[in-house]
Parts: sequence; C-alpha cells; structure tokens
Amino acid sequence: MSTQSTHDLEPEALDLQPGIPEAPSHQRRHTLPASEFRCLTPEDAASVFEIEREAFISVLGICPLYLDEVKYFLTLCPELSLGWFQEGRLVAFIIGSLWDQERLTQESLTLHRPGGHTVHLHVLAVHHACRRQGKGSTLMWRYLHHLGSQPVVHRAVLMCEDRLVPFYQRFGFSLMGPCAITLGSLTFMELQCSTQGNGSLRRNSGC
Ligand SMILES: CC(C)(COP(=O)(O)OP(=O)(O)OC[C@H]1O[C@@H](n2cnc3c(N)ncnc32)[C@H](O)[C@@H]1OP(=O)(O)O)[C@@H](O)C(=O)NCCC(=O)NCCS
Repeated sequence: MSTQSTHDLEPEALDLQPGIPEAPSHQRRHTLPASEFRCLTPEDAASVFEIEREAFISVLGICPLYLDEVKYFLTLCPELSLGWFQEGRLVAFIIGSLWDQERLTQESLTLHRPGGHTVHLHVLAVHHACRRQGKGSTLMWRYLHHLGSQPVVHRAVLMCEDRLVPFYQRFGFSLMGPCAITLGSLTFMELQCSTQGNGSLRRNSGC
C-alpha cells in the first residue's frame, strides 16, 4: 500500500491475514513497503513491547500487556490485532481479544474468551516519534472497519484514562462509566462501541 495522508480517516476495504501484507502484489522484491497495515504475529511481539515500554512503562511503571501476554494474544487471536508498518518498522498497533461479559473485569486483562462477541481492546499505542500526526486515529478507524467485517464481533470495549475519553468518543465509543479494573493507583473509564455491520463503517455514524 502506498503512503497515505495520515489525516485521511476514511476506512478502506481490508483483507487482512496475520503476517500477510495487505497488498503484496504492489511490492517490489527486496523492497519494504512504504506503508502497510496488517494483523500482527507473535514474531511482532518484541516490536510491540518496545513501543509499550516507552509509552507506558517509562511513564507509569506498568503497561497494559507484558511480553508474554502480547505473545499469548497474538498466538490465540492475531485477527483481532492490527499493526501499521512504515518501511518495515512498526509505528502503531492495536491488540484485542474476545470477551464474553457486559463489563470488563480484572480477568479480562489476561484472557481470550473465544465464545465471546465483544472485542476487548487491550492496547492502542503509537511510536513516540509519530504521535499527534493522526496515526492513532487512522489506525483506530481501520481497526473498527476490520472488526466490522468479522461476524462474530458485535461490540468493542476498552478502558482508558479520563484524558483520552474524548479521543475515543470521536470513533463512536460511548462512556459506560468507571471501570472495575485498577492498575496500581490508576483508575480508568470504560467505553463501548457497536461494531456490527458489513465492514462498511460510516464515519460519524456513532457506530
Ligand atoms: C493516545 C495515542 C494512541 C493517540 O495517538 P496519536 O496518533 O498521537 O493521536 P492523533 O494524532 O490521531 O490524535 C488525534 C487527537 O486525539 C487527541 N489526543 C491524542 N493524544 C492525546 C493525549 N495523549 N491526550 C489527550 N488527547 C489526545 C487530540 O485531540 C488529538 O488532536 P490534536 O493533535 O489536534 O490535539 C498516542 O498518543 C499514544 O500512543 N500514547 C501513548 C499510549 C497511550 O496512552 N495509549 C492509549 C491507551 S488507552
């Protein structure tokens, strides 16, 4: 896929398989694609954790997913992840797993419940050098579009700090209230968004 404007938030048709570039026919041999969106694999775990280390551990002392958990989710449900690579380097990613209850609980931090119809978005992070360029927004739109094409997925939920609630509301997430999960002294809000549809998520549709 060619590099696009990072502020172009309109989702495009996706056909994502773990480890398979989105448009391999457009690549030249031995040339890394300028910009590529694909599901992650366990082999991407180290790059994921490198971004998490800077984004969360250096700031909060903790992070949403440690290396073993990243590998666990990317092994069990790679189709619920999405990475953005530029010149072969991971610049932003989302990792999700299935959950089978209305609200998140401490257990949802470490479990994938294959029978569930709710995707729990464990983490969205953008490489520190690429923030505030629209990348997090672009990736979230694409991820929701990707979820919309998976019939088993009806809903997406996430927990975030207060300051990021408006960021997620832009994608149609609505506030459910305080989250039951705490990490150390940190508290979070819980948000949800319907993903049902045929993959043609409409912008500003409020999900
Ligand atoms: C939060 C994060 C994913 C946003 O990605 P991004 O690519 O920087 O965001 P965008 O450029 O798409 O931002 C669009 C808008 O979202 C809001 N926003 C982005 N980051 C924000 C932040 N840290 N705090 C509050 N609002 C934020 C702003 O309104 C921003 O618009 P502006 O740049 O015109 O002010 C990114 O900053 C990041 O990886 N942070 C560290 C990890 C993290 O906190 N992840 C979220 C876990 S719930």
